[in-house]
Amino acid sequence: MLERIRQTTSYLRTRLNNEVPKAVIVLGSGLGQLANEISDKTVIPYSKIPNFPVSTVEGHAGNLIIGELAGQRVLAMQGRFHYYEGYDMKEVTFPMRVFAALGIKVAMLSNAAGGVNPQFRKGDVMLITDHISFLPDNPLRGKNLSEFGSRFPDMTHAYDPQLIETARRVAKDNGINLHEGAYFGVQVPSFETPAEYRFFHTIGADAVGMSTVPEVIVAVHSGMRVCALSVITNCGLSGEVNDHEDVQKQANRTEPVMTALFKGVIASL
Ligand code: HPA
Repeated sequence: MLERIRQTTSYLRTRLNNEVPKAVIVLGSGLGQLANEISDKTVIPYSKIPNFPVSTVEGHAGNLIIGELAGQRVLAMQGRFHYYEGYDMKEVTFPMRVFAALGIKVAMLSNAAGGVNPQFRKGDVMLITDHISFLPDNPLRGKNLSEFGSRFPDMTHAYDPQLIETARRVAKDNGINLHEGAYFGVQVPSFETPAEYRFFHTIGADAVGMSTVPEVIVAVHSGMRVCALSVITNCGLSGEVNDHEDVQKQANRTEPVMTALFKGVIASL
């Protein structure tokens, strides 16, 4: 594992001309177009990066982008890896390990999520302040990579309090109604049953989705600061039928709001 991380890190270090980007951005379902905002770009398909898995989901392009956003050097993942695609947790989180090894200190994550807080509407944005994991595995299972972090990493402030404050301020400055809440990470790919959505709400979740949690665990273990946002693409408690295409469309529609939030937080780094 360490050898694979070293190989990939060394390849990317060359592509970065030894520069360390200020942040890595993970662009979730339907949010890949946010990459258009990045200037002075180098686009590297995942297939060209040694040891990188290849994205299989529609709406996930599968490119690593080096460039500038809000005046900062950034790396962006256009498309990510999900547990439900069949990857194991080490593969899902492999890119995050590499980003940590490159010396990147901030991870900005986005995702499409189902709302389970009855106050949420389609197209709303939620700042993730905490999570509950219902995934069947943890990416830190097995031998601890002590080069990155401790055996039992604390998760009390998994979502960086300072970045949460910054996101709140950026939302206020841009007149964005930003919800906050706990993200419930599930395996899926079948959407939840009405009883499951009710269950998630009952136990304290505000949104539910298929990604983010493993990446956050590895980022925190590696000492990175995390800021994560969900686009609420469907309302779980509404009884409406769910559809992946709809989820993507909704995420696309919310892109300007997500872009403003991401740019604002990145500008402050
Ligand atoms: N459930 C799980 N993942 C999701 C959902 C959902 O309702 N919406 C978008 N991603």
